[in-house]
Amino acid sequence: MFKINENYLKLPGSYLFSTIGKKVREFTEANPDKKIIRLGIGDVTLPLAPAVIDALHIAVEEMARKDTFKGYAPDLGYDFLRQTITENDYRTRGVTIATDEIFVSDGAKSDSANIQEIFDVNNKIAVCDPVYPVYVDSNVMAGRTGEYIPEIGKWTNVIYMPCTKETNFAPELPKEQPDIIYLCFPNNPTGSTITKDELQKWVDYANKVGAVIIYDAAYEAYISEENVPHTIYECEGAKTCAIEIRSFSKNAGFTGTRLGYTVVPKELKSGDVMLNSLWARRHGTKFNGAPYITQAAGAAVYSEAGKKQTMEQIAYYMKNATIIREGLLSAGYTVSGGVNAPYIWLETPKGMTSWQFFDYLLEKANVVGTPGSGFGPSGEGYFRLTAFGTYENTLEAIERIKKL
Ligand code: MLT
Repeated sequence: MFKINENYLKLPGSYLFSTIGKKVREFTEANPDKKIIRLGIGDVTLPLAPAVIDALHIAVEEMARKDTFKGYAPDLGYDFLRQTITENDYRTRGVTIATDEIFVSDGAKSDSANIQEIFDVNNKIAVCDPVYPVYVDSNVMAGRTGEYIPEIGKWTNVIYMPCTKETNFAPELPKEQPDIIYLCFPNNPTGSTITKDELQKWVDYANKVGAVIIYDAAYEAYISEENVPHTIYECEGAKTCAIEIRSFSKNAGFTGTRLGYTVVPKELKSGDVMLNSLWARRHGTKFNGAPYITQAAGAAVYSEAGKKQTMEQIAYYMKNATIIREGLLSAGYTVSGGVNAPYIWLETPKGMTSWQFFDYLLEKANVVGTPGSGFGPSGEGYFRLTAFGTYENTLEAIERIKKL
């Protein structure tokens, strides 16, 4: 009899957002007359920008003609897109990234889950707590963690770095030495950020102990304050210790279109082995490239019109973030995030767990959010709302919450 990958059996329940989806479906079925407002999963609501739509139309037409039709895309991404990424996302920040250090993919979720494959199973990971669940679950599936201890909501053989009010929602350098460090700034779920000087400390630490940083910068476009790094490569020495993951989902609304990329600098080595070659080998074997149509749409995000239109979208969501932040503050909640990120992180009312608050909000206000404990034990007592809803729904949701 064949054997399964038993690591999958260690995973408790279903993926966080699947659990929430199920609860909301059940509530809707039982209460068909209620108008639910979803501020749970970080999914965008604005349509793709006109410049992106124009590029999609052109690309579709190209696919319809014999002389411009495209088959398999280059597995690492089209040069036209990789080049525009290096120019717009890096050169403008004073950072030199070569085109062949950019790997185009179908999104940051898959890259952040897959990247662990190029590392030995005996490496120890360190994660922020709370954390985007994909980093941990993908390492569980690979067998890099120990067992799940439900009483404390933690895995053995994983280093948790608490990010709570007490730490200003930033991780502290771990006492125990990790091999792989996952960092996400602006942060999902807390919406916090760290300064360039603070990030530099992580880069120095990783270089000193020989650890690699997986830096998820999916929310980079939401940074509004000075002194917050837009890429980890703004830090000196980051190219010898960090991989950066980027997304088109949050800055340009590609959640349903799927596009992202990962930067693996050629200086990043284990002994003589370049991680860039390993990731290229992995990509070549397991991925046939993001669709031409999508990559053409991605390049349009960097056109003059694309930049202007996507910046307007970000401003729209950040206006929602302000409404949520200020509305909750005026209702007496303790709130953080929502300044450099589309997520608002609030403390649940005294005596209510994250899931109890989830049920309360769903039942009494018909508003869906995400329980902090779903992101890790230090998320208990917190709750996440996203700014990705429509303006009208966001206003209404906050009015409903204020009335509770
Ligand atoms: C979230 O809600 O945390 C995000 O939508 C998850 C994701 O981007 O995959």
